[in-house]
Amino acid sequence: MRLVFATHNEHKLNEVRNILCAYAENNGTIPIDLLSLNDLNCHDDIPENENTLAGNARAKVDFVYSRFSVDCFADDTGLEIEALGGEPGVYSARYAGDGHDSLANRRKVMDLMQGVSNRRARFRTVIALRLDGNEHLFEGVVNGIITESERGIGGFGYDPIFQPDGFDMTFAELDIKTKNSISHRGMAMRKLVEYLVNYQK
Ligand code: IMP
Repeated sequence: MRLVFATHNEHKLNEVRNILCAYAENNGTIPIDLLSLNDLNCHDDIPENENTLAGNARAKVDFVYSRFSVDCFADDTGLEIEALGGEPGVYSARYAGDGHDSLANRRKVMDLMQGVSNRRARFRTVIALRLDGNEHLFEGVVNGIITESERGIGGFGYDPIFQPDGFDMTFAELDIKTKNSISHRGMAMRKLVEYLVNYQK
């Protein structure tokens, strides 16, 4: 099944390719022939102005479908910090302004979290799938804490300041395979893949 992943984020694309490879290692087959927006020659800015993750994920697939009429999926992800009332949440990409600057976003979080003892946080991903004219949502969550300082050079976005429960390393210190096996995006993607496997039967 051909599906376009509606993202311009190379890190997300790389993670999703890895997740599909891991699925193939375990099950002997990949249910998705993955295409990127580059494959469609799509370089447009995709709007994400909704106030929920699901709303943004839907907006992305609707945008791509309206232009290219292809089956596609998109993810929207937020870092939800308990002590900040769930912020940055749906505003994670533009927390420190419209520049989508990950370093500035992390600095803003670190500043707000200075001296805060409750460091509980979670990443949440909602994937919207548009398939044969219908839309479906898949969610993934990983719980953890905001670290006291940045650690690690892997990953992207908020990875250097997020340490998942059960690990003493941040997402930026863990290898991509380990991150994918426990991450919000990994969990949502595995739900999507299971859905597609059963859909094809
Ligand atoms: P979006 O889903 O592309 O809107 O991403 C929202 C924000 O969260 C961006 O600043 C991303 O860099 C960040 N982000 C998304 N996924 C991850 C992740 O897996 N780890 C760390 N940061 C992420």
